[in-house]
Amino acid sequence: MEIDVFTGINGIPDEAINNKTVIVIDVLRATTTITVALAAGCLEVIPVLTPEEAIEMRARLGDERVLLGGERNALKIPGFDLGNSPREYTPEIVAGKRLIITTTNGTRAIRRAAGGHQVFLGAMVNAPSVATAAARGEEDITIICSGTKDRFSLEDFLAAGFIVDRLTALNGFTMRDGARAARDYYLYRRDDPAAALKESYHGRLLEELGLGEDVDFCSRVGTFDVVPVYGGGIIKKIG
Ligand code: MLT
Repeated sequence: MEIDVFTGINGIPDEAINNKTVIVIDVLRATTTITVALAAGCLEVIPVLTPEEAIEMRARLGDERVLLGGERNALKIPGFDLGNSPREYTPEIVAGKRLIITTTNGTRAIRRAAGGHQVFLGAMVNAPSVATAAARGEEDITIICSGTKDRFSLEDFLAAGFIVDRLTALNGFTMRDGARAARDYYLYRRDDPAAALKESYHGRLLEELGLGEDVDFCSRVGTFDVVPVYGGGIIKKIG
């Protein structure tokens, strides 16, 4: 069984996704936020590509439990209920609700993974649980880093490296070069993941926007045991 890591969604061959176990990572902040929302009792999350699609879907569902969440340029979209800060997704706000979410990179990457045999969403906050869940499948694993507007993201690569490190500690997994590079980077930075996130391009942008607390929040390893699973257009949790 092989593990590979892709550092963006462009150019991933279909054979790396179809019938594989796929893990989609957007540490800052989409997959962290979705994990937190599900941990807080949100019933399901529907990832869509555009704000217009989100608004249209809410109208079509006609369900008063639906909340709209997400961001453009890291900020809440006008008319939406919530932005993309995981700290907004408290049980008081999201328990018993259905969330439609659109983000710049994360929801695109999740949709790209749709052909996977099983698709998990990973972040630093749930990386140990995601590694355990993915290993159970006993099949090739493809990790997709969402990146930032088609560019490489350090924070996603770090979380990918953590997951690769966990998987290779189990018997039977071999690393393709992308996985080996991610693991090497993780081993180099593992003593202080928060510092790595703060140095990253997106981490610095969030800090400039006054969202530095999100960066700290998103850097904590294993604070949630929830594993979001994407299938049939909907994200639900296991764990
Ligand atoms: C994204 O999907 O691009 C991100 O989650 C951006 C963010 O809100 O930090």
